[in-house]
Amino acid sequence: MEGEDRGEKAVAAMEACYQGFDPAAYLQYNYTPPRADFTRSDSIVPWKLKCLHEAFSEGEVLVDVGSGPTLYQVMSGCEHFDRVVLSDFLEVNRKELRIWLQDGKSSLDWTPYLKFVCELEGRKCNKNERLRSVVTDVLPINIHQPCPLPSGSLPSTGADCLVSSFCLESVSPDLSSFTQALGHLSGLLRSGGHLLLIGALGESFYLGAPGLRIPVVPLDEAQVCSSLRASGFHLLQLSVYHLPPDMRVGVDDVTGVFFAKARKP
Ligand SMILES: C[S@@+](CC[C@H](N)C(=O)[O-])C[C@H]1O[C@@H](n2cnc3c(N)ncnc32)[C@H](O)[C@@H]1O
Repeated sequence: MEGEDRGEKAVAAMEACYQGFDPAAYLQYNYTPPRADFTRSDSIVPWKLKCLHEAFSEGEVLVDVGSGPTLYQVMSGCEHFDRVVLSDFLEVNRKELRIWLQDGKSSLDWTPYLKFVCELEGRKCNKNERLRSVVTDVLPINIHQPCPLPSGSLPSTGADCLVSSFCLESVSPDLSSFTQALGHLSGLLRSGGHLLLIGALGESFYLGAPGLRIPVVPLDEAQVCSSLRASGFHLLQLSVYHLPPDMRVGVDDVTGVFFAKARKP
């Protein structure tokens, strides 16, 4: 089989795997204590929220790539942009997001997250209203397509900022596909815009539902840096979180988390 066909088959196999994804189970596995324990500074979620809080700068359009059923990744950003676009490959996840935006209902209570980010910002917690007013769209996306979003979704110059968490390595069959997807994302970003990328280190699988092991590209820090460089990004910051033993709760084999801030020249 030619390399290109093999690549397409591997991507199709990943897409098939995602058909069993269960948003409520995924939220339960990753977004409850100990991984989301706001009384601990060494818990994963507070670490991610602090990184995001420090990284956003002002702009017009922010796009979250592969939102899944989660909102935490835009809780800081929603204060800095006039328009926020959420996106996911799966309708079940887009539906979960739309329900929260319309009715405030969700499989997970986001209140402690909103409160924590408001505390970081030193403001009163009225962020749910802000989020609802700036999120204009919840769009389908496929990062393996050269144009991942439906045409006409963004200004012709591109978004001012992209944020993406645990998406690229979790939906790519291998490192070259991960790097290629980064190149596709670059096409969504204006020149001079920023990419905030959060992802898993050393992970080979995670549970997307009970019994559903979704394969992941096991990345190290050097690979993250070289993939960003190969896709034309200029790396501004790379921070790494190492998982304490009690955060290894059996829903994946992740060993660390990276946070990268990069600029499109
Ligand atoms: C590990 S989850 C990450 C969700 C969320 N961003 C977070 O931080 O927890 C990976 C997400 O990628 C989405 N996904 C799957 N295939 C994709 C594709 N080809 N392009 C973009 N997103 C995809 C899945 O539906 C899922 O929501």
